[in-house]
Amino acid sequence: MRDLVGKVAFVTGAGSGIGLGIATALAQAGVKVMLCDIEEAALARAVEGLRLTNADVDGVRADVSLKGELQAAAEAAIARYGEVNILVNNAGVGGGGGYGAWTDAAWNWTIGVNLMAVIWGVEIFGPLIEKAGQGGHIVNTASIAGMISASGNAYNVTKYGVVALSEGLRVELAPRGIGVSVLCPGFIRTQIVDSARNLPGRFAGAVAATEGPTAEWLDQLRDRVNHGIDPLYVGELVREAVENDWAYIFTDTEFEPFIEARFAGVKAGFDQIRGREPRR
Ligand SMILES: NC(=O)c1ccc[n+]([C@@H]2O[C@H](COP(=O)([O-])OP(=O)(O)OC[C@H]3O[C@@H](n4cnc5c(N)ncnc54)[C@H](O)[C@@H]3O)[C@@H](O)[C@H]2O)c1
Repeated sequence: MRDLVGKVAFVTGAGSGIGLGIATALAQAGVKVMLCDIEEAALARAVEGLRLTNADVDGVRADVSLKGELQAAAEAAIARYGEVNILVNNAGVGGGGGYGAWTDAAWNWTIGVNLMAVIWGVEIFGPLIEKAGQGGHIVNTASIAGMISASGNAYNVTKYGVVALSEGLRVELAPRGIGVSVLCPGFIRTQIVDSARNLPGRFAGAVAATEGPTAEWLDQLRDRVNHGIDPLYVGELVREAVENDWAYIFTDTEFEPFIEARFAGVKAGFDQIRGREPRR
């Protein structure tokens, strides 16, 4: 979408962090933005802050892991702005431990927010974007953890899912004039490590008390995130990606060698069987 001025965007998880960075960068480019978040107070602060800059923004509270609430938020966006042209499925939580620490509650919470909400977002907003008849763009926030996985945890599984969904939709939606980008951030300075603040009651038990090596790992993670990249910088990259229809949005090159190592591992799998004649 070359010309963003006057377009309408719907951004989930926009009350803080990367979502707020994206909402801010889009608003600065003249986009009208409907911010959506589960956290009412943060959402109100975000909307108020952006309005002080004369941005045309509004907010709607929704738990995006409930399809009905996301649907109602979409209706609120249409009631407010008449149409939607850009969808940013960004809300996400850092949930779920690795092998030995699995709980159904953690899998359900993480899959609900990080993956099902993205699927539902496309299902609900895709037809609205098409109806607006101006082309459009969808950005799905995955992670570097959607490209490399060092733990069988729910977070990595959902982020690989978001990458797969985005790559497939990019092919399917191009003929309809809708671009699809997948955002794969490295460490960004947000509140992601404190995701449990937004744990809906129905997923009670999803967040276990941490001790020993897990607590140490969390401390290290918190330190990396606290010294991470500015979320507004990420928002500006996303705006550039929407304008230029990038397939992948990376925030930095820190993990590129790890992704190359993964590709080499995949290729080694082919090398194991190269030259053999498959039995049919
Ligand atoms: N911060 C990082 O280093 C990093 C790295 C890679 C990917 N990401 C991804 O970026 C996205 C944004 O996270 P962030 O880092 O800005 O963290 P954050 O916690 O600061 O922001 C996440 C936002 O999502 C909202 N949210 C959580 N559950 C929700 C729900 N059920 N319904 C609606 N909104 C909900 C939160 O209230 C919050 O405003 C996530 O998808 C995350 O996985 C973050």
